[in-house]
Amino acid sequence: MPVHRDDDRSSLAEIARDAGPRYRTATEYVEATLRAAILEGRIAGGTALRQEELADAFGVSRMPVREALRQLEAQALVDFMPHRGAVVTEISADDAADNYAIRMALEPAAFALSIPALTAEDLDRGRELIAEMDAEQDPVRLGELNRRFHMSLYARAGRVKLLALVEQQLAAADRYLRFHLAAKGRDHLSQDEHRAMLDAAEKREAERAIGILKAHLEKAATTIDEFFRTRDRRS
Ligand code: NI
Repeated sequence: MPVHRDDDRSSLAEIARDAGPRYRTATEYVEATLRAAILEGRIAGGTALRQEELADAFGVSRMPVREALRQLEAQALVDFMPHRGAVVTEISADDAADNYAIRMALEPAAFALSIPALTAEDLDRGRELIAEMDAEQDPVRLGELNRRFHMSLYARAGRVKLLALVEQQLAAADRYLRFHLAAKGRDHLSQDEHRAMLDAAEKREAERAIGILKAHLEKAATTIDEFFRTRDRRS
């Protein structure tokens, strides 16, 4: 069970009252208010969010509450658990650091094996995925496109088990990417680095390509770590 520091957390009623009714729709009101409270740590990871209680606290019906919870799930801020309903996602600085450490160990190795064998089709696919990410707003789709982009660069590594591990870690990283984008905005996708990585791979400049990938992962790891530090200092 998570540690609940109830003394410095806020009640749902306080959170709803502080936000005030300055939103266009009830769904937006509930979603934006809960998103801010989760990101700020005012609601602890592991807290069950019951639809009835939320409807009461916000003075809205259950339909917008349900829709808001679905939107929060798409941003990886809430998980739906059997018998418990919507539960605030447990993410931690430690888990994020672990995930990035594993990615840092696996992805450059897969990329190095893949670069010499990448085909024109693979590189075109990578370019298409970058363009799709530029046009995409939905955080779930963005996470998926990011994962497919990275996999397109590693596709020719020729090591089935290595690639399976890479894909598994990329999938686990998805919630941090979504959390990250929810906290910082979609500009944080680092598309310049995606473009630079692809360009270096196309020119078969393996060392440069791998250097960019490492910097890309390090930057993401640092940003999420800083996010937790700032948040935990505040609360
Ligand atoms: Ni990326």
